[in-house]
This record gives sequence, structure tokens and C-alpha cells, in this order.
Amino acid sequence: MNGSLPAHMNVDQPLISDDDLAEIGLLLETRRNFSIVHYKDKYLKRRITLRMRACRCLETAAYRTLLHQSESELDTLKKGLTIHVSHFFRNPSLFEKLRTDILPAFFQQKPPSFKIWSLGCAGGEEAYSMALLLHEQFPQQLEESHVEICAMDIDGDILLSGERAVYQQERLKEVSPYLQKRYFTPHGAAWQLVPDIRSMVTFHRMSIMNMESLEPCQMVLCRNTLIYFSREEQEKILRSIAQLLSPGGILVLGKSETLTGNIRRHFNTLCPVERIYHRM
Ligand SMILES: C[S@@+](CC[C@H](N)C(=O)[O-])C[C@H]1O[C@@H](n2cnc3c(N)ncnc32)[C@H](O)[C@@H]1O
Repeated sequence: MNGSLPAHMNVDQPLISDDDLAEIGLLLETRRNFSIVHYKDKYLKRRITLRMRACRCLETAAYRTLLHQSESELDTLKKGLTIHVSHFFRNPSLFEKLRTDILPAFFQQKPPSFKIWSLGCAGGEEAYSMALLLHEQFPQQLEESHVEICAMDIDGDILLSGERAVYQQERLKEVSPYLQKRYFTPHGAAWQLVPDIRSMVTFHRMSIMNMESLEPCQMVLCRNTLIYFSREEQEKILRSIAQLLSPGGILVLGKSETLTGNIRRHFNTLCPVERIYHRM
């Protein structure tokens, strides 16, 4: 498909200049209070090219003009830069590993409290999957430990949809019929999560780049989010995660992220396949 497009419309090799990117970044910063500085240039240019294509702007100059004139395109671009793809029990083998191995070992130490952060939580699917897992498989531990599941994202709208917890069937594709029947009620053509599970998760609007003020926690899930950041920023984020996790805490990165840089020495590997680590 890309073969028939002008070269600069090829999303794999976008020809957006660094100056164009800087101007678009300034617009997003000043008009939407959204900073692009931490994201990979290649990722940003690819996503902007997709928007240019959707708006039929053949030149970057035309797209810049459109952004100056159209509030709705600024909103759409901002949304396009924060991809909210997620679903319940995404990568089921990870949740199976947590169920059979990681969580039983963790709870054996009888922790008085168990605070979990889901970073870049999108519509809450990951945080609610943890809530469902704990509610179904670890009811006694839920009684014995003070469990708190916190979910954060930079996008306020997606957090609101997380609080509503209404999902299309597609997002439930890895949810067993048993769990779906027990924990979801029909909501038009979609499904809403029951209040008991919703009440286990709180949503917070913040940036993964500013986590210094957070209280220590025992588990961090940071999946499919680091990939959008430059290597330098990834290392910064991993350093704040290391600070956030109490000793003995668990870091879940999932298969598309890697523990890079010096920060590795603060972690033992618990599961190399699912990229689960233990904070020393
Ligand atoms: C692809 S989703 C990942 C959802 C979930 N963690 C998963 O693995 O299914 C990436 C999320 O990161 C969020 N995000 C992007 N930049 C962020 C930032 N600076 N701070 C917090 N969240 C961010 C996006 O809004 C998006 O919801």
C-alpha cells in the first residue's frame, strides 16, 4: 500500500523534519499542555504521518497549518500519540505465571500491605485483570493484606473510561466465559465490570516521568509503555520504578520491554520469559 504513496507519506520512513516536529511539539505543549519531549522521534514522526494521511495533507506545512486552525485535530493528534491498545489478561501466560508462582511466593511472606501500580494503564484493563486475579484466586490473602491497586495514565479521557469500566467484547477476548458471567453485566452492546471489582482500583492522572512523590509499593506493572520512550528516558523511568518499589517488590515488564542500563543491578530475574523481576 505504501508503494503508491508519495515518499513522505510512508509511515515507515516519514520525512517530517526535526523543525516540523519541534513546531508541532510546541503547539501540543502550549495548547494542550502535552509534552512530546520524552518520546522517541521515530515513533512521533510515524504517528504524525498517520494523522497527515488521515487528513489528506500531502505536505507537513499543510498539516502544521491545520493544527494551528483546528482544535479537534490537535485533540485527535494528542490521542494518536498516546495509544490506548489494551485488553483484559493481555498475554495470558503472564497472568498464569503470577497466579501459579509469583503471587503464592509473595503472599507466603505474609505482607501486611500489597500496593500495586499499573503504569500507562490505558482503560484500566491491566489493573482490573489484577483485581480479578486476586479476587478469584487469593481471597484469603485479600482479607489478610491491605491490598491497593492504583492505575495511572497521562490521558484524562482514557482514565474516565477506566472508571466507567464499560468494555467492548473485543477487550474481553481473553476473559473466560466463567469470569465474564460472574464479573461483567451487559451494558448495551458492551459489558460493564461489577462494582466490587471496580472499587478495588483507583485511577490517577499523572506522567510516568514524574513519579517521585509516590509512596513505596510492592508491585509495578509497566507493560507496552516504555517502548514509546527514548532509551535515555526509559532508563530514567526504570530508575524511578526502582525507587518506587520496596525491597522484595515485583516488577512486571512483559515481553515487549527490557530492563536496560545500570538499573539492572538492583533486580533479580524471577521469570526471563515474562520479564518479571524482583527488587533487591
Ligand atoms: C499501549 S498502552 C498500554 C496499556 C497497558 N499497560 C497494557 O499493556 O495493556 C500505553 C499507555 O501509556 C500511556 N502513556 C503514554 N505516555 C505516558 C506518560 N508520559 N505517562 C503515563 N502514561 C503514558 C498512554 O496514554 C497509553 O494509555
